[in-house]
Amino acid sequence: MVDSTRGNGDTADDEGTARMRGEAGSAGGSAGGSALGRRALFGGAVAAGLTAAAGPAAAQSRGEGSRPAGRFAGKTVLITGATSGIGEATAKAFAAEGARVGFCGRRVREGRRVEREIREAGGEATYTRADVREPGQVRRFVDGVAERYGGLDIAFNNAGINWFRPLHETSLAEWEDMHGTNLRGVFLAMKYEIPHLLERGGGAIVITGSMHQLATRPGGSAYASTKRAVLALAQAAAMDYGESGIRVNVLSPGAVDTRLFRQARPPMSDEEYEEFKREWGRENVPGLHRVADPEDMATAALGLASGDFGYLTGASLVVDGGLTSSL
Ligand SMILES: NC(=O)c1ccc[n+]([C@@H]2O[C@H](COP(=O)([O-])OP(=O)(O)OC[C@H]3O[C@@H](n4cnc5c(N)ncnc54)[C@H](OP(=O)(O)O)[C@@H]3O)[C@@H](O)[C@H]2O)c1
Repeated sequence: MVDSTRGNGDTADDEGTARMRGEAGSAGGSAGGSALGRRALFGGAVAAGLTAAAGPAAAQSRGEGSRPAGRFAGKTVLITGATSGIGEATAKAFAAEGARVGFCGRRVREGRRVEREIREAGGEATYTRADVREPGQVRRFVDGVAERYGGLDIAFNNAGINWFRPLHETSLAEWEDMHGTNLRGVFLAMKYEIPHLLERGGGAIVITGSMHQLATRPGGSAYASTKRAVLALAQAAAMDYGESGIRVNVLSPGAVDTRLFRQARPPMSDEEYEEFKREWGRENVPGLHRVADPEDMATAALGLASGDFGYLTGASLVVDGGLTSSL
């Protein structure tokens, strides 16, 4: 069971200033980052553009007008919740394909690490500490990204928490925290992103949903209700803004190997976790028989945001390895 009050802040590091631009590489970064982060940065074809663009020439000439070539060259992408997991992998994938990425999360140390890793590989990213439950912080984050990079083209509203508890054992504060993060947080982000997208003459919004929007498990009342609600939110927004050239879609992952997935299990060693994950995938994912990597979701998020999916709006793309296909 994931407790949303756990693991949310490296408090000693969290009192940092709102914008951490320029502090990349400072001693505050977590040593070496996560294995996940390294995999996200250097693994897979999507990173090829980024690693190829790294090196002295790219570093020396980094700045406006010298972005790595790619599908998203010249585009500005905003991501909520990219200090780990799916958001981190997606931030790195967008940067690898030429985008300028502005992202948030509450853990300053992790935000700095992700920012530094993207820049060291030749990409452009700016971390801002912002809590999606707080309207003022969301507004400052969104407007700050647009101001810094001269507008906004794509938003990936991904920040989320997850725990499972029987309904009558769920406190009102827990319910409101879940809904404040996973639903109200998405509403707030979109409320402040959309004026920038309208100003741009169009764009794409991708929201992270979940397979729990289709069906859920015991204890899922709080989580599943937020994830089903973001689909309704996306459908309504798709109609509000279709004529203005803004597409709004939901990426609905199955089980993904992230902090969120791991924290929902009893504590175990890394070795035990790897074995558990393999076994869990074999038993619970009837199609591909494995738990997804965050990069699998990044690939889907980039696809949804790209012109390749130019006719898709108000839709949910379930990327679950076949998990919800079985009876
Ligand atoms: N992993 C899965 O199996 C799975 C399956 C379906 C859907 N999802 C969805 O995928 C999304 C990403 O989760 P993940 O699996 O990648 O887990 P994760 O590694 O825990 O990532 C969650 C991200 O959300 C951020 N976040 C949480 N609360 C926030 C808040 N109040 N303000 C700002 N940022 C906040 C976290 O940053 P800070 O902690 O630094 O604030 C972190 O960057 C979530 O919406 C989740 O519901 C995950």
